[in-house]
Amino acid sequence: MKKLLKGAAALTALALALGAGCTGKGAGETQNRGAAAAKIGVAMPTKSLQRWNQDGDNLKRQLEAAGYAVDLQYGGENDIQIQVGQIENMIAGGVKVLVIAAIDGGSLTEALKAAKEKNIPVIAYDRLIMNSDAVSYYATFDNTKVGAMQGQFIVERIDLANAAGPFNIELVTGAPDDNNVNFFFGGAMSVLKPHIDSGKLVVQSGQTTIAQCATPNWSSEESQKRFENLIQTYNYRPGGTKLDAVLCSNDSTSIGVTNALVGAGWNRDNFPITTGQDCDLPAVKNILAGVQTMSVFKDTRILAEKTVGMVDALIKGSQPEINDTTTYDNGTGVIPSYLCEPVVVTLDNYKAMLLDSGYLQESQIQ
Ligand code: BGC
Repeated sequence: MKKLLKGAAALTALALALGAGCTGKGAGETQNRGAAAAKIGVAMPTKSLQRWNQDGDNLKRQLEAAGYAVDLQYGGENDIQIQVGQIENMIAGGVKVLVIAAIDGGSLTEALKAAKEKNIPVIAYDRLIMNSDAVSYYATFDNTKVGAMQGQFIVERIDLANAAGPFNIELVTGAPDDNNVNFFFGGAMSVLKPHIDSGKLVVQSGQTTIAQCATPNWSSEESQKRFENLIQTYNYRPGGTKLDAVLCSNDSTSIGVTNALVGAGWNRDNFPITTGQDCDLPAVKNILAGVQTMSVFKDTRILAEKTVGMVDALIKGSQPEINDTTTYDNGTGVIPSYLCEPVVVTLDNYKAMLLDSGYLQESQIQ
């Protein structure tokens, strides 16, 4: 509630500062009449993953189409200091709204104090920014559902309801400084833990906490290294210890795990069930090659559209669209959020979900 009021306060302050009203016209018409387009700062974490390039491109294109000027920056290779500097420059450079996908959700508290002082509303994009009362809104996917879908997929593919078991599983999640990990891993474990507790799913390594299963920077190299160690220690090989499933919170971690498993002799005929998230191109190719079983599709075009809608509402002094006011507390209160819907993608539906929707081109996956 506190945050809802704060979100509304940020909105009123910005509208007064801009002298903007709700004309019911398109943003471009309102923005460009007689004045320079308002500048929106967009901070993305890295260019090294396909999804953030798409996020940045989608946001820039859609914001520009709505009549805004865009300052889009990528934080090097997930470099926290670079991102902090970029955000400070955006604030000094007069942006009217900040859209930030944080590298480290807890590292922006100081930098964002200046945004608050200047009445610049901050939209946390995809990842929640922690411990900052400058954050007005949050646009993301239903991150708990992403994890629950991965867990549920494993349960159904193994057919835990009917099969005797026990079945071996290992768990891999992402960067511990990304608040999303708590929701991805939490969602997956809400489904898997009862089966681990009952002994039907067995984690031979005993590694079941976020700290034990984390992958710094969501790096494929790191997840590969950790998994090669697990293979070595528990002899997870065809003819050795049977490995039935690997929960991977996203595609970049799944790619590292796939590399390790293929290196240990697993192939499309016996490959353990592996999960992912993002439908990044290399992961989709792995799905087609039978060395990743599923990914969770989060259509970044929709996330960008919802975020641009929030920016536009803030600039015009109207209420941004939200659909969640209970889930995401950033340490200063609950941040009003819009959660987009994730979708499971497998060999069975990738054509409809990814190709027919224009998200990927057929030529890219051949
Ligand atoms: C995003 C995922 C992404 C991961 C690594 C998470 O915060 O929600 O889509 O795979 O970061 O970049």
